[in-house]
Amino acid sequence: MKKRKNILKIAIDSPAAAGAGTLAKTISTHYNLFYLDTGKIYRYIAYLKFKYPKKFKKKFLEFKIRTLNLKKLSNNKLLSDEIGTEASIISKIKAIRKLVCAMQTNLAYNPPNKYRGSCLDGRDITYKIVPDADIKFYITANVKTRALRRFKELKNLKKNISFKEVLKSIKKRDKSDLSRKYSPLIKTKDSILINTTNLTKRSCFLKIKKIMDKKIIA
Ligand code: C5P
Repeated sequence: MKKRKNILKIAIDSPAAAGAGTLAKTISTHYNLFYLDTGKIYRYIAYLKFKYPKKFKKKFLEFKIRTLNLKKLSNNKLLSDEIGTEASIISKIKAIRKLVCAMQTNLAYNPPNKYRGSCLDGRDITYKIVPDADIKFYITANVKTRALRRFKELKNLKKNISFKEVLKSIKKRDKSDLSRKYSPLIKTKDSILINTTNLTKRSCFLKIKKIMDKKIIA
């Protein structure tokens, strides 16, 4: 694979609903980076599984991923709790990870030319997709705070779900993402830990900006 030279690569890993997506988007806009929410690709595959249960086979998936228009990933349908749960189930499958990883790696190292670099967030970004990222973050928050944030997001989308159900689902997803055989969520030694439990979105961003500005200038 060809790689664009001298680009800035930011890698972020985090458990579900820790605020990584919001932060990654803000960072990307601020530093003119191409942003990819890698969880959305697993969510898209989960959606395909629900929509086309009979066609859900290797060749079909290869075609869908090869021809995927990234705009499709902003569909609100992908945000439901059922899709998130299914995404964490299908993301355990080695063949699916292989397919998705190749695509994500290519986007991380070859972002469109108008961008200065890339910023990806997910579960395996810091050690699998962009192991040589310039800066790595592990963003987390306590489970109740994460569940409350996700609950509010889902309520805004008019989804019919209780806080208790969201909390249960996030705990289940944490367990699966942390303990799975292929590409489990881990904090690598070289990732900077950001705990967002008691921080506002703005203060999280400023904290990260301070770290990034120091590293970029250094
Ligand atoms: O980040 P998000 O909650 O949208 O991710 C949905 C699911 O996709 C996660 O629970 C995880 O199982 C899977 N995922 C993954 N690797 C990534 C990103 C997401 O396995 N890089």
